[in-house]
Amino acid sequence: MTFKTNSDSADRSRDKPSEDVQNDDSQHGNGDLVVVANRLPVHRSCPESPWETSPGGLVSALMPILREHHGVWIGWAGSLEAASDPFSHEGLFNVPVPISPDEVENYYEGFSNSSLWPLYHDACQPPHYHRHWWNPYVKVNRRFAERTAECAAPNARVLVQDYHLQLVPGMLRELRPDLRIGFFLHIPFPPVELFAQLPWRQQILEGLLGADVVGFQTRAGAQNFIRLVNRYTSHRGVGQAIMVGQRHVQAREFPISIDFDRFEQLAQDPAIIDRAEEIRAEVGEHRTILLGVDRLDYTKGIDLRLRAVDELLKSDRHTVNDLALVQVSVPSRESVDEYVEVRSRIEELVGQINGAHGEVGQMPVHYLRRNLPIEELVANYLAADVMLVTPFRDGMNLVAKEYIACRLHDTGVLVLSEFTGAARELDRAVLVNPHDIDGMASAIERAITMTKTEQARRIRSMRQKIRRRTVFDWANDFLGAVDAASSFSMTAGGGTRDTS
Ligand code: F6P
Repeated sequence: MTFKTNSDSADRSRDKPSEDVQNDDSQHGNGDLVVVANRLPVHRSCPESPWETSPGGLVSALMPILREHHGVWIGWAGSLEAASDPFSHEGLFNVPVPISPDEVENYYEGFSNSSLWPLYHDACQPPHYHRHWWNPYVKVNRRFAERTAECAAPNARVLVQDYHLQLVPGMLRELRPDLRIGFFLHIPFPPVELFAQLPWRQQILEGLLGADVVGFQTRAGAQNFIRLVNRYTSHRGVGQAIMVGQRHVQAREFPISIDFDRFEQLAQDPAIIDRAEEIRAEVGEHRTILLGVDRLDYTKGIDLRLRAVDELLKSDRHTVNDLALVQVSVPSRESVDEYVEVRSRIEELVGQINGAHGEVGQMPVHYLRRNLPIEELVANYLAADVMLVTPFRDGMNLVAKEYIACRLHDTGVLVLSEFTGAARELDRAVLVNPHDIDGMASAIERAITMTKTEQARRIRSMRQKIRRRTVFDWANDFLGAVDAASSFSMTAGGGTRDTS
């Protein structure tokens, strides 16, 4: 490992990096700022290929801060990789955590994605609970915590990400009381009635309470957490603060966002504008283009969205000649049964709708099951008249924000599920209940017929909001809160840190 530490002492000096890993200290993160996430911010198609930075808002938001602080990112290198040594890539020090094939099945596909994921998304698929998934979850969380304890400099700030690693803050605090720890949950945090099902509810809550700041996408998520702490632990939370021994833990919302300027710039790129025109011409200039872009996940409500479009095509108001849906579905978690089932359900529906309403050379649903390069994604955002974002539950949903950021001419309409975190900020979207097929069909109709003046009023107001608070503000706010909350705990007498 890169750094050895003595967790008993807060004023220990940093050991030298081990020689088998790196000799050049300038290539190391110094561990003053550590991000811990299930996945590293890089991927490669096979162990012989070079690493590439993964796309996505979280990575682009944290990379500049980590580079500035010579930080470290600790995470899993993906299922193709066995253990590999720490390495630098594009100025960031990556520390891989090995996860065995059995652990992928039980910790990742099992407890993370078949217990927690459905439970936290309103149990829109029944969550499964198995003790043989829980134990590997604990074991892998411990491995992440130990790796972090080894890498973090004295008094370092550690930002732990998401539902895979909810035990890490508690484990890390025991190993390294000197650290300042933030935890951020990217997905929704469920209400008491649902979370109460979890056989290991108390362990999860205690795990999260190891952090100085527990961050959520929405205020409702933070409030659910505080209610649960009051109900199922011996700690007491009032407002946003929870007393854990002598420590104050802060629980509050930090709504995540996008790199607004990047999308705005891409939307002005002449090659992307040409490609958008090409898409419009291919689909049919005279047709209204509806667009859906989602990971192929049962929480995204793609099936009911398709049925709402089917309703419109069955009505006497629309035919395949005036309406088309482009549905981009990005493959995801394909070894989990529910993901296989939702894919067949969606693909069967696409076939039925195209069979019932299509003509030779003209289909109502253009279904793409693949990940699009960002340029092609933006070209689709530019080509679409109406963006459909209709998950049954979603922590935030950045696709909604990306669409709005790309609409430079203030045209277009966003139809948005009221059960997304984004709906709090994007309240000028046409809000829908994604379980109500007729309601969604009417909302899409309203979007199609909305006047240009009304479109402009709505898009302008939403663009301003997104521009004002980007993913970089999110990262700064969260980091700032970790600093502020931990110094507050120290003045309250709870600190064991070396403040010299
Ligand atoms: O939204 C939660 C999340 O874990 C994202 O961070 C990630 O991009 C997505 O789900 C897919 O996750 P994975 O492929 O790691 O299961």
